[in-house]
Amino acid sequence: MCGIVGYIGKRQAYPVLIGGLHRLEYRGYDSAGVALLSDSDRLNVYKAKGKVSELEAVAEEKDCSGTVGIAHTRWATHGGPSTVNAHPHVSESGNLTLVHNGIIENYAVLRDQLKQRGYHFQSETDTEVLVQLIEYVQTSLGLSLEDAVQAALKRVIGAYAIVVLDRRFPDLLVAARKSSPMVVGIGEAEYFIASDASPIAEYTKQMVYLKDEEVVVCERGRELRVYNLSGENVPVEVKNVELDLTMLDKGGFPHFMLKEIFDQPSVLQDCMRGRVLPEHGRVILSAVTEHRERLCQARRIVIVSCGTSWHAGLIGKQLLEHFCKIPVEVEYASEFRYREPVILPDDVVMAISQSGETADTLAAISLAREAGAFVFGVVNAVGSSIARNTDTGTYIHVGPEIGVASTKAFTGQVCVLTMLALALGEARGTVDAGEYKAVLNELQQIPGKIERILAQNDRIETLSKIFTYAHNFLYLGRGWNYPVALEGALKLKEISYIHAEGYPAAEMKHGPIALIDQEMPVVFIATHHQLHEKIISNMQEVRSRNGRIIAIITEGDEVVKQMVSEYIEVPDTLACLAPLLSVIPLQLLAYHIAVQKGLNVDQPRNLAKSVTVE
Ligand code: F6R
Repeated sequence: MCGIVGYIGKRQAYPVLIGGLHRLEYRGYDSAGVALLSDSDRLNVYKAKGKVSELEAVAEEKDCSGTVGIAHTRWATHGGPSTVNAHPHVSESGNLTLVHNGIIENYAVLRDQLKQRGYHFQSETDTEVLVQLIEYVQTSLGLSLEDAVQAALKRVIGAYAIVVLDRRFPDLLVAARKSSPMVVGIGEAEYFIASDASPIAEYTKQMVYLKDEEVVVCERGRELRVYNLSGENVPVEVKNVELDLTMLDKGGFPHFMLKEIFDQPSVLQDCMRGRVLPEHGRVILSAVTEHRERLCQARRIVIVSCGTSWHAGLIGKQLLEHFCKIPVEVEYASEFRYREPVILPDDVVMAISQSGETADTLAAISLAREAGAFVFGVVNAVGSSIARNTDTGTYIHVGPEIGVASTKAFTGQVCVLTMLALALGEARGTVDAGEYKAVLNELQQIPGKIERILAQNDRIETLSKIFTYAHNFLYLGRGWNYPVALEGALKLKEISYIHAEGYPAAEMKHGPIALIDQEMPVVFIATHHQLHEKIISNMQEVRSRNGRIIAIITEGDEVVKQMVSEYIEVPDTLACLAPLLSVIPLQLLAYHIAVQKGLNVDQPRNLAKSVTVE
């Protein structure tokens, strides 16, 4: 969590830093701060509790001059959201200032040691220890800033991406990372540092992704230098990174979430481009072509992921088992990594992650690699840590997702998992040729069918007004639509703060039915597929207890229409593709309920887009 930005060069740093923080606000937004070395060589540090706009209000009347600076937007871990806990933190002497993303696990021990040596601490954060430790090492051993950073980081246990500014050296920024992402952009006589490429992309395409335990020295008038923690030079690997900047603004929509919901038809086309080849009647995924033998021989696939990506994994399980006849397990990465899982060398461990930075998923794949499994990534963020730590994988290519509630990444993940199941099923000879063709044809119709659901946005908005009163929702689905029920409930609770639970519809009788009364909306995902009659029986059970039903149904399903007062129709499709359609009205329903309640849809309380702490 947390977003960091640094700039050194010929421009005024403040606009670059603030613009960068806005782009990184998805990583946390409970406080923000900036440190600038002014044109008159003063170190100015401004901080505010709350969003980046609060920081701008604080800095408005102040001296924001300077061509070097660092900035931070925070998601609190150690120490609550407050101005004093906001970054940048300043060292005892006032010479050093630092921003940090990550967690320093041995901060308490280090802080006690530093206190004994006369250092004072203002905040409750683990970060303040870092800036004091670097200063202590720098002064006690007489080291340069870069050597002091290297030496100090050797004593640190935990995760970090840091940028340090020393007011005595206005031509220098030193940064380092371990287990937290960091990118350096190289411009014309200027350097940009950020947690991801989005704050940098408008200035340069030349980027360097730092690896774990690397320290980078950005000095005016000199080439970029990268070292490891032992002080050895590391070759600088510059990548040409293209980011579509139009994806980074709201494109006329009131919120990123709504834009991203509406992006789905076009980004799913991008996801399939060059992979679904209608002229050949085939799906080609380079990962499957290049690692055909290893993937075909998999005895088991273990999917590790979190949140929405875990829900996509549950659909992936059904797809892979159905088309590839390989047993699949779906694990919460956070549970998997801590319970001594049995991982065998002929397992394929598949990490699904939008951000590619989720700490638990990253740790789960490290564990899998150590055990000799083959690791496959289904990731959105290009060049992210998970993408770089897998043996192979398939990007979902849905563009940056800024709204905290995941929408287009979910459908992108399901789309990739469908293509993967088809390609691998074909390679293993386990998929029926007729079914392969039918799924392939129908997959190409999905973007157009999503358009038809999006055309009902106004109707769903009207419907949402009825339900803002509710304190609890139940989402029920079966088979392919059971993970959609979980995802619909997650969307609602994370942005509207209404408690919601997703359940397999038939499980309702084993407990949740006790909750049902006229106050309780029950969302049935009841498209016209397998188990349709059974789900109708489940609806009857809710109706006879006065429950209020909202049904997601296949267009023209007159039976259910007669039974319920509220329904949303989705176009017909194959059962295995139903989640790609049935999830769309649930995204819109959650969105409109949250908007009706006047909530901050893109930045819900307590959440951050990228969960880089465990
Ligand atoms: C929910 C949501 C989260 C993420 C989860 C995993 O809308 O966005 O549940 O799905 O934090 O994140 P990634 O996919 O980035 O690993």
